[in-house]
Amino acid sequence: MSHLKSREISQRGLEVVDCPGPDRFGDPAGEVVMGEAPGYVVLLQELKHAVAVGVRRQHRRPYPTLGMAALAVGIAPAQLTSFIGRERELAELDRLLRIFRLVTLTGAPGVGKTRLALELARTLGQRFPDGAWVVELGLVSDPAQVGPRVEEVAGQPLRGRSLLVLDGCEHLLQESSRVAEKLLSASRDLRVLATSRKSLDIAGGRTWRVPPLGLPPADARGLSGFAGSDAVQLFSDRARKANPAFKLTADNVADVAHVCSLLFGLPLCLELAAAPALVMSPAEVLDSLSDRFAALIGASGKPVGRRRLLRATLDWSFEHLGARERLLFRRLGVFRAGFSLEAAERVAAGDGIVERDVLELLDHLVDRALVRRLERTRYQVLEALGEYALDRLRAAGEADRLRDLHARYYRRLALAAPPQQLAAEAGNLRAAMAWLEAHYPRGFQEMASALAASLPGRG
Ligand SMILES: Nc1ncnc2c1ncn2[C@@H]1O[C@H](COP(=O)(O)OP(=O)(O)OP(=O)(O)O)[C@@H](O)[C@H]1O
Ligand SMILES: [Mg+2]
Repeated sequence: MSHLKSREISQRGLEVVDCPGPDRFGDPAGEVVMGEAPGYVVLLQELKHAVAVGVRRQHRRPYPTLGMAALAVGIAPAQLTSFIGRERELAELDRLLRIFRLVTLTGAPGVGKTRLALELARTLGQRFPDGAWVVELGLVSDPAQVGPRVEEVAGQPLRGRSLLVLDGCEHLLQESSRVAEKLLSASRDLRVLATSRKSLDIAGGRTWRVPPLGLPPADARGLSGFAGSDAVQLFSDRARKANPAFKLTADNVADVAHVCSLLFGLPLCLELAAAPALVMSPAEVLDSLSDRFAALIGASGKPVGRRRLLRATLDWSFEHLGARERLLFRRLGVFRAGFSLEAAERVAAGDGIVERDVLELLDHLVDRALVRRLERTRYQVLEALGEYALDRLRAAGEADRLRDLHARYYRRLALAAPPQQLAAEAGNLRAAMAWLEAHYPRGFQEMASALAASLPGRG
């Protein structure tokens, strides 16, 4: 894209931010005051933008409706678990997208908005021959970056019969609405499918609340009566993944169904509850969850809201971990959009965790559905789980120390790693830059110079 070039980011970047001399990162005496440098603020914006999008440019690919097998950075990760049920929801959304040009999926964290949107994008591929693009906005914090982010992921003006999925708009509602409106008015056949914990306000758009997964009917009897529901299916699929010997039987199906009802059919909660299947039977899961929820409902007897329910399920899952796994999990809250094994070892080990044990501890967290393994040595913590981990990290008074370690690690990576490796780390690089900018301007300078130098198309 020419806009970065036309603004001569790399030329000016190096002019202003080059900082020869010894590495004094982290040494307060070595910090330099940057505020007055001419053009500095603009430069920072450009560099942040560059980090956000520049290194990704070579990796841009459409969502696999166009037959692409690999998913690019900036596009939602491939789903590693099976998609369950939702036939009615998919049919209804297909119908709505024929009528409305913007449909927003709303609902509580973990209800399945993103997963449903991705499945829809996949199944409706035929209807959008000009491409389906998934733009994950969870990582974008600056409203001004929503438009550029869409542009960068799509890599072309969205035209023809295309579908744009804007995933996770809740923190950028106004700007997401503005961008969606602008794109829709520029392209007659474009459809936008947004996901957001709150609804997007666009005239002519339609908000659709994602329901939890279907529960068995109240009068269900026997294996077949319970087993057909989506919630029971999801629980047993994930239990089988954790323990291949797990089977839904006439003996355990009522307990599974009961767990599903207790968790309102919320997919994220179901995944967490099914994960210990190797060590807990459905009856044991039911017992321990019931105790916790009885305490939550307390004397008021009022039903528990979905957010509190998710929180309570997360507490339950967290408390079933060993001490070192808890320590590691909360520390993983500093990463943004995935991390490598090496990053986890360098950033999250120490003070209670030995570096060489990190791999094994991560394996446990993957088994408990708290962490996903994306590739052999790359992991991700789902958004709602990451928020929880960060909360725990803050409560333990460890957040600043971990952010500092995180920033140092990614600064070193920016100085040494090739652009292809940096491309996967845009979220972490941006978080590191934000921390350095506020705490160690010199480290920020060095990192910015290194990133500017590694931008594709420089010069
Ligand atoms: N129909 C489904 N089949 C299989 N897994 C599902 C289904 N719906 C949701 N999940 C799983 O449940 C978890 C939570 O779903 P998802 O991330 O889509 O929730 P969300 O509503 O987008 O949450 P947030 O508000 O935090 O973005 C994920 O691990 C997802 O893969
Ligand atoms: Mg989501």
